[in-house]
Amino acid sequence: MSDHTDRTPSDDHLLEHAYDGIQEYDNPLPRWWLAIFWATIVFTPLYILFFHFGPGMLDIDRYDRAMMLAAEQQMAALLAMGEIDEAMIVGLMDDESMMNGGRKVFTSKCATCHGVLGEGGIGPNLTDSYWLHGAQLMDIYRVVREGVTDKGMLAWERQLRPAELLAVSAHVGSLLGSDPPNPKAPQGVESARVPPEPAAAAVEEES
Ligand code: HEC
Repeated sequence: MSDHTDRTPSDDHLLEHAYDGIQEYDNPLPRWWLAIFWATIVFTPLYILFFHFGPGMLDIDRYDRAMMLAAEQQMAALLAMGEIDEAMIVGLMDDESMMNGGRKVFTSKCATCHGVLGEGGIGPNLTDSYWLHGAQLMDIYRVVREGVTDKGMLAWERQLRPAELLAVSAHVGSLLGSDPPNPKAPQGVESARVPPEPAAAAVEEES
């Protein structure tokens, strides 16, 4: 029995049959073509494992990371001037990369206690208008930074970079009224969030 792979690619092998006068070759695929074909098959699972389940970073993650790092440098400068205020956290909510970063920090560090959607668990529900430590964005930022260590809420200041602290605070700020399924019963006092004075922020930017 002669296997067609024994032949060299230059031996054209014509099949016996003819349809409407059309005959066809049954030649082996060129080795270079087969090599690429098998390489892609080997490559695909490696790519998926590495980038989607392993340590590889997809472009979008790398972009968010780069934006976070750039923001980090800005933040460090602002921090040095003591300029973190409510309006600045509100500003972050318009920054898609910071908000993506904030959501990622929340999912990896906070969701175990507060739920993926902030619906609450070991920790309180962060989506309702009842607060133990204040409803304002600066209250959230302060609690996240300093924690309530005797009640099981860590001081994240030591574990997160300044931009991450701000981004995750902005993320928590954005959860208000999001009404997730299975919410934890309210804790603390019902309090409204007072929006920052937009006029004051605008005047500051102009000067
Ligand atoms: C180990 C569990 C745990 C983790 C992890 C955790 N928290 Fe908490 N968190 C708590 C508990 C418990 C409280 C309530 C503290 C109290 O009773 O005073 C709390 C309170 C809070 C509050 C104040 C809520 C209010 O009603 O005033 C905020 C905001 C908050 N956490 C945000 C976060 C963020 C952001 C992260 C992630 C960076 C995080 N928490 C991670 C357990 C946790």
